[in-house]
Amino acid sequence: MPAFSASAPGKIILFGEHAVVYGRPAIAVPVRQVQAKAIVMANPLAATGNVLIQAPDVGLEAYLDDLPADHPLVCVIRGVIKTLEIGRLPALTLRINSTIPVAAGLGSGAAVSVAIIRALSAFLGHPLSENTISSLAYEVEKIHHGTPSGIDNSVITYEKPVFYIRDRAIETLRVRYPFTILIGDSGVSSPTAAVVRDVQRAWLAEPEYYERIFDSIGKIAQTSRQVIENGKSASLGSLMNENHVLLQAIGVSSPELDRLVEAARSAGAAGAKLSGGGRGGNMIAAVTRDTTSTVTHALLGAGAKRIITTEIGTS
Ligand code: PMV
Repeated sequence: MPAFSASAPGKIILFGEHAVVYGRPAIAVPVRQVQAKAIVMANPLAATGNVLIQAPDVGLEAYLDDLPADHPLVCVIRGVIKTLEIGRLPALTLRINSTIPVAAGLGSGAAVSVAIIRALSAFLGHPLSENTISSLAYEVEKIHHGTPSGIDNSVITYEKPVFYIRDRAIETLRVRYPFTILIGDSGVSSPTAAVVRDVQRAWLAEPEYYERIFDSIGKIAQTSRQVIENGKSASLGSLMNENHVLLQAIGVSSPELDRLVEAARSAGAAGAKLSGGGRGGNMIAAVTRDTTSTVTHALLGAGAKRIITTEIGTS
């Protein structure tokens, strides 16, 4: 049996994080500079059902049956088995490699799930549809995120810019003219589930205040969609700035993120904001060819641990 491999990109949220959990729209794009890769190989010398998992990036080497039932990798493999109605897997080795930083808002968990689902279902002779891949990855996202909106698994499965509203059919975005963003890593690890839980607690205590802010964030995401589809990306910077203020107001920014956002703006970025769950992880800045290098240096000078430059709208 040949080996099967599949990969999936990282992602970044341009607009609408947190509000998307409460039914407002958000925009996310794939980030192909970072990837998760899964390889599935038959293991003819082992007994049926023996599934060895190797994930050297996180120091994991274990048999599937030895991992706890609520482990994300167990959940993803069992999801494929159940969907394909397979009694027992043939003996196999699953190797996972990823260049996507963990707990940084770049969708590492969803990308690993999508890569595994693609490689394993192809290995088993029944490659799954994108819809099914995304739904299975969503189930695993619940372990990572608690109450995920579903945006990560969607953008990573479809590998296209998406305009996403929870529980609605996914809409892909037509980017009229490509534009560039810088992704700056604060180096602070911040699990999304904890931040989402804090926002929920605060929303329960003061629903009107939070609903008003979510409405404003949703409007920014709507406007940004038009701006992107009509090729007016010069206005994306100010929309990012407005979105960042609203994210600060719900308490999900941090001194490190604010410092990077400020440094990017001062160095000539058209605008900047935190991206993803917040309190750490990444921020993004809208740049042009002329400002890319200055803003990159300013971000590194302000403490960014790594910068990814990504062009949105080129395939
Ligand atoms: O970029 P991440 O993986 O940190 O995603 C966070 C996005 C949230 O809106 C905060 C949560 C969600 O499930 O949409």
